[in-house]
Formats: sequence, C-alpha cells, structure tokens
Amino acid sequence: MAHTVVIFGASGDLTSRKLVPALYELYRKGRLPEQTRIVGFSRTKFSHEAWREKLAESTAHFAAETFDRALWETFAPAIYYHPGDIGNPEDFDLLGRLLDELEGNGEAVRVYYLSTAPRFYEPAVAQLGAAGLAREDRGKRRVVIEKPFGSDLASAGELNQAIHKVFNEEQVYRIDHYLGKETVQNLLVFRFANGIFEPIWNRNYVDHVQITAAEEVTVGRRAGYYDGVGILRDMFQNHLLQLLTLTAMEAPARFEADMVRDEKVKVLRSIRPMEHEDAIRDTMRGQYRKYRDEPDVPPESQTATFAIVKLHVDNWRWQGVPFMLRSGKAMSCRTTQIVIQFRQAPHMMFHTGPRAPYEANRLVIQIQPAEGIQLHFHTKVPDEGMKVRLTDLEFTFKDKFSATMPEAYQRLLLDVMQGDASLFSRADEVELAWKIVDPIQAAWDRPASPPIELYEAGGWGPPNSTQWMHRQDREWFDRCPVLR
Ligand code: BG6
Repeated sequence: MAHTVVIFGASGDLTSRKLVPALYELYRKGRLPEQTRIVGFSRTKFSHEAWREKLAESTAHFAAETFDRALWETFAPAIYYHPGDIGNPEDFDLLGRLLDELEGNGEAVRVYYLSTAPRFYEPAVAQLGAAGLAREDRGKRRVVIEKPFGSDLASAGELNQAIHKVFNEEQVYRIDHYLGKETVQNLLVFRFANGIFEPIWNRNYVDHVQITAAEEVTVGRRAGYYDGVGILRDMFQNHLLQLLTLTAMEAPARFEADMVRDEKVKVLRSIRPMEHEDAIRDTMRGQYRKYRDEPDVPPESQTATFAIVKLHVDNWRWQGVPFMLRSGKAMSCRTTQIVIQFRQAPHMMFHTGPRAPYEANRLVIQIQPAEGIQLHFHTKVPDEGMKVRLTDLEFTFKDKFSATMPEAYQRLLLDVMQGDASLFSRADEVELAWKIVDPIQAAWDRPASPPIELYEAGGWGPPNSTQWMHRQDREWFDRCPVLR
C-alpha cells in the first residue's frame, strides 16, 4: 500500500531538524513502507529539486552519524514540494490533484502532518475538509497535530471540536514526543512485563514519587514563543503529566491504543483538583536570573522557567503518596528522571545513628540522557562494624544493547503510518491535562499570589524549592547522571 506524508509548515525548523531526518533513518533501516512519498507544503517557493537539496544539507547535519549521500540520492526522488498558503482554498485543491497524481489515483494511506504555528491548526484542518482531502474512499486519512495543543482547557476544547468536524477521533494523532522516547515506553515494559515490581508499586511501599525534567539550556532565542507560554504549559501539561500517568496507571489488558489511553485517562481523572490555596501551597515557580535579559523578554516578565507541582492521585493505589513534579531551564544539567522513593524499613536494628527518612530504597528511572535504571539499597560498609550505606545496582541501555537510542520521531511517524495511536494523546486526555494545569496557572496569574522566585543558572532552581521539600521531611534527588 502506498503512503503519502504531507508536511504542512514544511519550511520550518521541525521538518529539517526532526521529521525528515527521522524519515530518512526509517528508510535507511528499511522500515519505511515501500512507495512512501513525502510532500512539503508551505508558502516559500521551492522547486522539488531545490527542496530536496535543502533537505539533503539539513539531514547531513542533523543525521550526521548515519547520513550517506549515495543512499540519500535513492531516497530523495520520493520527496516533493508544493508551495501553498493555508488561507487559500485553491492551494488545497491543487495539493489534492498533486497527491492523486503521485498516487496514480489509487489507494494510499495519507498522513497530514501539521507542523505549522499553532494558530494554523484549525484553518488547515478546515481546508483539508473543504477540499475533500479527509475522505477515506481511497485509503486511510490521518492528521498529526504537533504541540502545543491549545493553551488552556477552553482553547483545547475548541480545537478538538474544530478537528472533529472534519476527522473522526481515530484519524487524529496528537503528538507528545516524550511518548516516542524508548525509555518512556520502557516504563510500561518495566512495570508490566516484570512480576516483581507491581506488588510494591503502591501506597504500602512507596513514600512519594519525584518526576524531574531538568534542562541545562536557557530559553535563548525561543523567548518570543516561550514568554507567552511558560514552564507549566511547555513541560507540565504534556511531558510531565505523561510520565506521571505511565508511572501511576493500572495495567491495561492489551497494548492497544484505547486500552492504554483509557488507563491513562483514569489517572488524570483521579488527580485531586486544586483550589487557589492548594496551588499556592503545593506549587512553586521560579525564573532564572538572566531570563529578563534574553532577547524579546519584557523587562517585567513574570513567566516561570522553573516550577514544582505536588499532585495527589486519589485512588486506592496511590492514596497518600504525593507525586512531586519539577522542571526548569538553566539548571545544573540535563536530566529527566523518575524517582520512586520507597518507605524505610519498619525497624532498624543497626545502630548507625539517626537516618533521614529519605535514606531508604529508591528506584531511579533515567529517561535521558543516561538512559537506564538504578536500584538504591543499603549495604554493609566493609570493615566498619555494622555501618550501613546506600549503594546502587545500575542498568544502562548503553551497556546492554548495541543499538543507539533512536530519535522519538522515528517511532511516532512509523506508528502513524501503521495506524497505531497507542503513543498519541486522545482528545479527552489533553483536555483533562489542561484541567489540571489551568487552576495552577490561574493562581500564579493573580496579582496577590506569592512573587516568582529568582534562581541562579546552573543549580537546582530556587533555594526555597529545596527547603519546601525539607519541610515535608523529603529531599529532591539532585544528582546529574554520569555519562559514560
Ligand atoms: C519541548 C519544549 O516540548 O520539549 C522545550 O517546548 C523543551 O522547551 C523540550 O526544551 C524538551 O524535550 P527533550 O526531548 O529535549 O527533553
């Protein structure tokens, strides 16, 4: 069966940095379905040839390790370009004709990838509908929507409604690139392909869960976008809540899109809603000190570049187990990790001095960049009486597997072509995530809310975030992964 991937916003950064390198990699590995064509659509005028050449250069740069010019030459003829304006119906009619021609008026799976600025999602979908390009009389038609999906519950709801006027939910693939990461998928394997962890994966054994996504980079040249968005919308509504749901969900009976997503949705529904006072008590926001000096940032900007959010999952498994979420820019290092902090042994018979409550077993799931898992446990220190110390067992993907970690987009693009939506967000899922995040943002936006805390770049956020954790007799796991 032929496949056509149409990329709207084709001259943008994502296309050259991620999408085309991912498609090239799939081709190189022999995984791209035969007869796959790629059609770029955006306003800039390119000939097919000129666009192929531009992509050859960017792919050579972004897939430098595997780029092979001779191989590219065999891939490039499948790439086409169609200049067009999302506001112009005629351009969609012409696009339709080009696609029919390329597909020889036959059956084909079509993937419409919206990689445009978010304000074009709705008009692009409407134009696809009006031009008859969503009809499935000659093969499946799927639409992929990049993030951000709305900017709050209301806008996400409107976008969902607009999309559903043209596409059924089964045709819609909302991207969260975290779900394309191998280590994120491995969370499901770790939890549900092993029998020994599930019995202790609950309130009886777990004290709390920490989910950190720290980035060393600053906002840099993205401030024009970032200042109107902030960390809560940029990282929490999507990526961090995805990690939380995968950590907290029940086992689906089968690995099937709706079964997996039903379980994730149940977790989101169980998260205790926050009132204003809860948000003030259970969250904190920060901004790195030089943020207001970045180009395009207003001098008085209150945009958060760091936040912590404590959430409660009100169900039997997780009652009383807080989920501490944290993310920030300009932090000590790049690390995304999930820490399952277990309770202490009920009684300690070794007299080794008082222990802090957080000196107990923990499981550290390293999502990136040192992909792996560590189990921390007490050991006897040799030749020092009965002194005990926390030490760890470590697994890394790098040590055990020779394959390099693929870019998230490879898996996601292939899944869309094959019609597997397990790793994509469903309409109700994105809306529920906004429902969790909106009240926090609203509390922060009130003039009377506590002021934003400034922090130095290169650390672990505002000092107060450490104290906030200490006041709860807990401690952040502030360790940069060791890269070997
Ligand atoms: C994006 C955010 O969704 O995720 C960026 O917009 C952030 O601000 C990025 O830097 C982080 O992704 P990753 O894959 O590098 O963890």
